[in-house]
Formats: sequence, structure tokens, C-alpha cells
Amino acid sequence: MQVIQSLEALRAVLADYRDAGDRTALVPTMGNLHRGHLALAEQATRLADHTVVSIFVNPTQFAEGEDYKTYPRTLDKDTLVLKRSGVDIIFAPSVSEVYPFGQSAATRIHVPEIGDDLCGRHRAGHFDGVASVVCRLLFMVQPHVAVFGEKDYQQLQLLKRLVSDLSIPTQIESAPTVRESDGLAMSSRNQYLSEAERGIAPELHATLQAAATMLAAGEADFDRVEQRAIERLEEAGFKTDYVAVRDAATLTPPLAASEAFVVLAAGWLGSARLIDNVVQPNPRFAD
Ligand code: PAF
Repeated sequence: MQVIQSLEALRAVLADYRDAGDRTALVPTMGNLHRGHLALAEQATRLADHTVVSIFVNPTQFAEGEDYKTYPRTLDKDTLVLKRSGVDIIFAPSVSEVYPFGQSAATRIHVPEIGDDLCGRHRAGHFDGVASVVCRLLFMVQPHVAVFGEKDYQQLQLLKRLVSDLSIPTQIESAPTVRESDGLAMSSRNQYLSEAERGIAPELHATLQAAATMLAAGEADFDRVEQRAIERLEEAGFKTDYVAVRDAATLTPPLAASEAFVVLAAGWLGSARLIDNVVQPNPRFAD
């Protein structure tokens, strides 16, 4: 496995892969890798001949006052984590490699509607930053396939829309959320939790499961489902940004005719903003 920092060096290796007619997969990450990332990398290695994991803490997706400066940068540890994963390249570019004209002069991608909703409402410019950096990474690596985690459900839908809308010839694949034994979704931000907050954190997933159970039982008053979940989270000690029931395929408000629902939530425990989601098939279509 090679750690490559410059685009020029990356392109040289990728050209060899292309000349050999091999398929390449990309797993974009911000590093501080955990088992969730490893699952993405493992999936990528099954889908292509060569896998590139990018590690780049992208400044443009952090809103004003967020944790860009303190976000854990752990390249040495990440290299060890990936050592036996079958990954060929860690691409760890500098900010100037990714944004050669500087951040304020950089071309930006805005994905309307999906990007303005849910987390987009609470994190100004976040999804423009995500769309812009993923677009750049896709152009740099030109992978056949890119793999993203389902924990970031809104991000995943937004990126699928982006590649479809811009006819980017990369297949977007996803991998299920990896959880701790108590249900907490793995996230680099879990390390911001104090011991007491860590004890409360699994309530996020439990609450979403309870909401999904209401939907499975045929509850069609989606506001009621959301309200119940918000109350439960707030009682547990969360400061909730939102809980939303949506159509799982489009992220638009759910309809009786939706094939599946997704319940998404974001909430704060101290300085940690946690997100999670649960997909629930519409019981109307159960056979
Ligand atoms: O999900 C993430 O870690 C980031 O949003 C991504 C996709 C690597 C873009 O910086």
C-alpha cells in the first residue's frame, strides 16, 4: 500500500492501472478511520481491482464555528488500520492540492433541494462543500466505482443525484452502517462524547427504531412519529436538530404511496453532533 500526497504521483499510478485495463474504486474519507470505514474499503476491494482511500479533512464542508481545526488528523494510525485491508493507495492530498486556486476562488457545486434540506438547513454550506470535494476527488481518481456509508444517508442520496445529473461515469455504491454493540452508529465524532454522553448516545438509534416500528404498524401521521421521537430524544438529554420521516428513495416528504420510508435524525450531546437513520418498508406493500 502506498501513501500518495500529490496528484501528479497519483495520476502516474492510476495511468498504469488504466493501461492494464483494471477497475479502480474510490473510498472518500476524512480519516480518523474506524470499522465503518474499513467496511467501505473492504466492499471497494470486492468491486474493483484497485482501491484508493482518500483521506482529506475538507475545509469547505465545515460551517462557521464547526470543528474543522480540531477534527482528528491521524494519518499514521489510519495507514496502520488500512495495512491489511487490500487497499492499494491512500491518497492524502494537501488543501492546496485539492483547491489550487484557493478556497474562496474555488468552483463550487450546489445540489439544490436535497442539499438545502435536513442537515443542510442546520449546517450552512455543508453539502456544497461535500458535493464540491467529492466532485474534485472523482475527477482526480476517475474511479469506476465509489463507496459511501449509509449512515450519511442524505449525503449518499445527494451524491447519487450529483453523478447522475452531471453524467459522471462513476457508479455510486453504499455500505450499511456499522454499529457498536449497543446500537450507536460508528462515527469519528463519537470520540467527542464524555462518558455520560456515551451512555446516552445509543438512544438515538433506539428512538429511530421505535419510530420505524410505529411506521411498520401502519402509523400514517408522520408528524406524530417525528414528534414522539423528538420528545424521547430531548428527554434522554439530546438537543435535537431534527427528526424527519421521508420517502427513502427521494428524501421528499413521505406519501401513502412511498415504497419505503427513512427516519432521519440529527442531535447534539454536548459538543458532539450525531446523525443516524433507519429505513422502513411501507407496510402497505408487504405481502
Ligand atoms: O463522509 C465523509 O467523510 C465526507 O463527507 C466525505 C464524503 C469524505 C467528503 O469530504
